[in-house]
Amino acid sequence: MNKWTLLAAGLVLAVFLAMFSVPTHGFSTPDGKAIMEDRCGGCHGLDRITSKTKDRAGWQTTVNRMIGKGATLNDEEKAALIDYLVSK
Ligand code: HEC
Repeated sequence: MNKWTLLAAGLVLAVFLAMFSVPTHGFSTPDGKAIMEDRCGGCHGLDRITSKTKDRAGWQTTVNRMIGKGATLNDEEKAALIDYLVSK
């Protein structure tokens, strides 16, 4: 083994370590703001949402209404989105 082989092996190892050290739990908690930007801007501007202040029940009703119109959210995304809307 010459030093280049060692260097290449070290590089591969470093890439593997970097891959496994990425905090994957960051992906399992959906980000409400990102969900809004992704799912709620298709039919109207986001300002239509961000300009409104509602309590949790109000946002729940609104989000359910939007799902009825065609917004796609699973239960987890819906919960994260409502948390964000209540606290924005
Ligand atoms: C399929 C199209 C569509 C999508 C996707 C959509 N909306 Fe709407 N939204 C509408 C339409 C149409 C209106 C106006 C008519 C009405 O208020 O029912 C509206 C109005 C609104 C209003 C103003 C009326 C109110 O109740 O305060 C809010 C707030 C709102 N949407 C939030 C959202 C949020 C949050 C999302 C993402 C979950 C979303 N919308 C996604 C179609 C959509």
